[in-house]
Parts: sequence; structure tokens; C-alpha cells
Amino acid sequence: MNYYLLGYPVGHSVSPAMHNAAFKELDLPHRYNLLETRPENLGETVQGLRENIMGGANVTIPHKIEIIKHMDTLAASAKQIGAVNTIENRGGQLIGHNTDASGGIKALTEKYGELNENRVVLLGAGGAARALAQELAPKVSELVILNRSPEKAEKLAHTLPGNTVGAGLCEQRVINTADIVINATSVGMAPNTSESPIEAQYLRKGQLVYDIVYNPIKTRLMRDAEKAGAETLGGLWMLVYQGVEAFKIWTDLEPNPETMYRAALRVLEAGH
Ligand code: ATR
Repeated sequence: MNYYLLGYPVGHSVSPAMHNAAFKELDLPHRYNLLETRPENLGETVQGLRENIMGGANVTIPHKIEIIKHMDTLAASAKQIGAVNTIENRGGQLIGHNTDASGGIKALTEKYGELNENRVVLLGAGGAARALAQELAPKVSELVILNRSPEKAEKLAHTLPGNTVGAGLCEQRVINTADIVINATSVGMAPNTSESPIEAQYLRKGQLVYDIVYNPIKTRLMRDAEKAGAETLGGLWMLVYQGVEAFKIWTDLEPNPETMYRAALRVLEAGH
């Protein structure tokens, strides 16, 4: 069976290495391939896949929203987020799922333990932050969303349940009282590796600092967190767990996250 990544561009993706390593470890005769698809060819490509021996696909930038109209049905995860990153082919029916948020939270709970009475500060209010916030809000005791543009954080907080507030990054001293700090902005991503979305002085021992940026593997924020004695979790684990969740949808089997992480890391390291 063939699996694909639909995106534009897809050249530097770690997904083929990650999934092919897991297929191999489980002795599955499947293959995961890149399928670079320009926006104007998306419909035609999906039609081609329907007629192909396709097990499923991942969808990435810039197609995550546009792909919705080519699906036969949407799973609850995709409806809730309003975007699809995983396609399941169930006997010719294409079902759109979203594993970005569930994968992101799974990576967090694997490291931290289950969420319950936690105070969480989430940095950012874009697509990635919105997806994570929807999962976090009903599970934690306090969620503070801080964004460069405060009104976006406030607007997002108003749509969410639980004890959720939104504010500007200028309110970042609240980070000091948080159990978990999550960076869901793009700040610190290569080539701007010396940047951090927050000042190091608010980080402390006893916190977990989770950065969804995975290039570089260790961001400035994570280095600051380590210096402050905090625990850290890198964004490559989020990428791996969205892949783990997709793999489970496609095969009903549980892949080894460590195998997928090592394969992804090799690709990233080779790119430098
Ligand atoms: P994604 O889909 O990856 O979340 P996005 O929707 O473009 O991408 O969101 C990017 C996020 O990073 C936003 O929260 C953005 O803040 P604004 O809403 O104020 O634009 C944040 N961001 C990007 N560059 C930033 C910077 N230099 N400083 C602070 N926040 C930044």
C-alpha cells in the first residue's frame, strides 16, 4: 500500500523517513512517498489518489484547509479544528482527520503525565496555538494565552471553555506561576535561532517548557529553560506523535515513537 504527503513544497519533510522506519520495524509492505502538489492541482491529485492503491495520506502547508472540500467525510478532530492533516482511505471513502492537536498533547502527557490541576501558559494565537488550546482548555485548571497581538489571544480565549484568559505578551510575568509553558509561535525557528518569545527571568525550576518549534532541535527558549532548571520538551516530539496518531488510523497498529523520532532526527541532522 502507498501513503503520501501532499504539500508544497515538501522537499525537507521528515515524514517519509519517520513512517518508512515504522513500516519496516513492523514488517509492513507499505511505502510513504512525497507528493509535491501545487495548490491549482490539488483536486486532480486527490482524484488520482482515489484511483490508486492508496492507504492514506498526510496533508501539510498550504493544503490543510482547502483539502476539506475533497473529503467524503470529516472525523470530529478535523471538524473541531477546521483543518485536515491526515486522510484515511476506508474502502474508497476518504475521511479527513486532524492529529496535530491530539499528537501535540500526547507528546506533552508522555513527558509530563496526565493533565488535571495544571496552570498552563500558551504563547501564540495562530493555527497551531488554536488547535492546542482547544485540547488544553477543558483539561487544565488555568489556561493563559499570551500573544503579540493581545486581541487575537482574547478572542481565542472567549471561544474556549474552562478557566481560560487571553492577554498580550507584555503580561509574561504570569509565566512564573505556570506549571507548563508552551511556545506555539514561530519565534526561535531557524534561521532566527537566537530569538525567544519570552524573557528568561520568568522561567523557573519545577516547570516544563514545551517548544513546538523543532528546527533547531534545541531552541533558545529551551536553552534558557534548562539554565533556569526547568524541564524541556522539543517540537520534534509533537511532529512524531501527530505521525504516530496518523499511523494508528491507517494501520490499527501502534508504532514505536522512539523509532520514528530517531528517523526524523537523522533527516534533520543531515540537513545541516
Ligand atoms: P501557525 O499556523 O504556525 O500557528 P500563524 O497562524 O501564522 O502560524 O501564527 C503565528 C504565531 O506566531 C502568532 O501567534 C504570531 O503572533 P501575532 O498573532 O501577533 O502575529 C506569533 N509570532 C510570529 N512572529 C512573532 C514575533 N516576532 N514575536 C511574537 N510573536 C510572533
